[in-house]
This record gives sequence, C-alpha cells and structure tokens, in this order.
Amino acid sequence: MSANPTKPITPIDVAAERAELGPALEDALLRTLASGKFVLGPEVEALEKDFAAHHGAKHGIGVGTGTDALWLGLLALGVEPGDHVVTTPFTFFASAAAIALIGARPVLADVDPATALLDPALVERELDAQTTCILPVHLYGQLCDMRAFRTLADKRGLKLLEDGAQAHGARRDGQACGTLGDAGTFSFYVTKNLGAAGEGGMVLTQHDEVALALRQLRDHGSPVKYVHQRIGTNSRLQALQAALLNVKLPHLERWNERRRALAARYDAAFAGSQTVVPLARASGATHAFHQYTVRIRGGRTRDEVLKALAERQIFAAVHYPTPVHLQEAAKPWGYGPGDFPHAEALAREVLCLPIHPFLSASDVERVAENVLALAQE
Ligand SMILES: Cc1ncc(COP(=O)(O)O)c(C=O)c1O
Repeated sequence: MSANPTKPITPIDVAAERAELGPALEDALLRTLASGKFVLGPEVEALEKDFAAHHGAKHGIGVGTGTDALWLGLLALGVEPGDHVVTTPFTFFASAAAIALIGARPVLADVDPATALLDPALVERELDAQTTCILPVHLYGQLCDMRAFRTLADKRGLKLLEDGAQAHGARRDGQACGTLGDAGTFSFYVTKNLGAAGEGGMVLTQHDEVALALRQLRDHGSPVKYVHQRIGTNSRLQALQAALLNVKLPHLERWNERRRALAARYDAAFAGSQTVVPLARASGATHAFHQYTVRIRGGRTRDEVLKALAERQIFAAVHYPTPVHLQEAAKPWGYGPGDFPHAEALAREVLCLPIHPFLSASDVERVAENVLALAQE
C-alpha cells in the first residue's frame, strides 16, 4: 500500500491549483476590480481571442454558462421550435435540455458502448424530415468522430453543434471542438479542466455570421445600446471570471498533459482486468481526461464499490447514474426503459476515478489498488 493511506483523494483540488498559480489569480481579480469593467470588456475579449486561438477557431463568444452556450448556439445555427435535434442519452442533462428550451425536440441515438460517445451510424438512423441539427457530446474529454458527423451533416444539409463542456484542449485528428462543427460550446464551471470561480461559458465558431448572431443573442439582440434587432437574453461572461481564466489558460495544455500521464498509470494498473474496464480511446484522439472512467463488472456493483471507496477516503463519482431518456423531465419525448441499452448499461456500471493535475502518482496507485480489490470482492 502507498504512503499516507488516509489522505482524502478528491475529484478536484482547488487549493492546490491556487497554490500553484500563486498571487497571479489575486492580482487578476484586483486589477479587474480596479478597472470597474465587470461585464464583457477587455478581460472577456482577451479570453475570447486566446481561447479561440488555442483551439484553432476564428471566433470566441463568452456567455454566462455552458448551458447558455448550447441554447444560444442552437439558436444562432437557426434551430427552431418543432425541429428535431439528435443527441446522446448518455450526457449531462443540459445537452438535451438546451434543445427542449427552444421548443425543438431532442431525438436520442444510442452510444458506442466502448467509448460512451454518440455513434454516427446510430444517429443516421434517427434522421427524418424534421431534423435540422446534430449535437454530439465530447463526453469525459474525448472528442466524437467529428469527421463522420461532418460528412453526415453535409450529406443531409444539417447543422452540427458540438458540446465540448468537458473537452477543453482535447483534439481528434488534430482538430479541436468547434472547428469541424458549425460551432462548439464550452463550460467554465468550477470543476472543468479550465474552471472559473463560479459559472461561465464560451462558443467557438469558424463562421462570421454565427459569431455575429451569438454576440447579439447574449445581449438581448442588441448590436448597439438600446437597439434590439432580435429576441435574445442576458448571458454575458463576467470580467472577474474571464480574468481568472486568462491566468489559467496558459497552463491548460500542461495540466491536460499531466491528466494524460495519470491516465496512463491507471491504464497500466487495470491492464488485463475483467472487472475494472477503462472506456476505450478512439484512434487519433488527444483525450483531455476531464474524467477517467471505468466500467465495474465484478462481483460487487458499481454503487457498492463507490461507497466502499468513500469509506477509504477515496472520492470517486458517477457521471451519470440515470440516462437522459429515463429522467422525469424527458417524459414528453416518449422514451422508456430499454430504448437505449448501451446508455443504460453505462449508467449502471461507470465509475469516474479522481484525475486532476495535482494528484501524485502514488495517489493514483492507491486509487487503482483499492478499486481493483473492491471490485473483485
Ligand atoms: C456535457 C455537458 N454539457 C453541458 C454542461 C452545462 O454546462 P454549465 O454547467 O456550465 O451550464 C455540462 C456541465 O456540466 C456538461 O458536462
């Protein structure tokens, strides 16, 4: 057993991040307070520019949350009430809720059980005359097969919105979220690979007209103060959050690299296990490992392993215990148990193990040893 076995191992470590960045975060906050520019302004503009450049996108539009990024992204792509938008049943509920917020209909297609990502072949089967958009989710920090989705969308004349809330800095075949889709959305919620001290979101796009629409939609459709060209909302990224994110962005790649190194250690520990089975990696994927996820297939259930780990001060998590289509709020969409067997099996079996840039190799060893032992009991 590794050293210091009673130290809690948690999904994120805000204190360690703060210690690493030293006074830079405080300086950024004080500078922004002194500037008096609290909503949009230079800090937000700098983040929009740098975050877009980091991902190889032409435009970045800062908004209030990752949910708003999806909702406004769909509106900017022209999705209307009554349209069908195809997405995954195995995601955070916001991916589907954003579609329903517009009065469009979330149409679900099952995931690839190996990766837990939306499967282009299964999506194609769900397309109909009312479909206007496909919404792939880059779950856990691994990008979906965007080349296949781009080909499909072009063939059928559909829009493509990528949900990259968990995929900051991730790539597939060298391309990042928001560059193959018509737009890509991000969340800066506290726990994300690039997290604010609160809420925040961003949409990336290569298209000038989509960027223009988003800038208006986030600010009550207003190109100039008190001129309103379309119905929008108030969803403007706050300068204090952008100031913190500007300090953190230069560290994102190094932090993601560290996550990948820790993931490789978990992989080595679980190699050959029939009871603790990591999700598969797609070829050409540069995974951001927002989560390191295994399936528990041993004598003990996932929930039993989760509880026993917590008793040993190891705090894993389950993203997500109930698939979208079995949520009460999804009842109007007409789905039921058994409709998406891969998503339902994943919801029963997945366990997300602690993975953040401030974990040590021996922390990972301790988690892996305990998961293997508990799953086999
Ligand atoms: C896949 C996915 N989509 C959308 C969101 C929504 O982002 P936010 O919480 O910033 O609204 C999240 C947040 O957890 C997410 O994980």
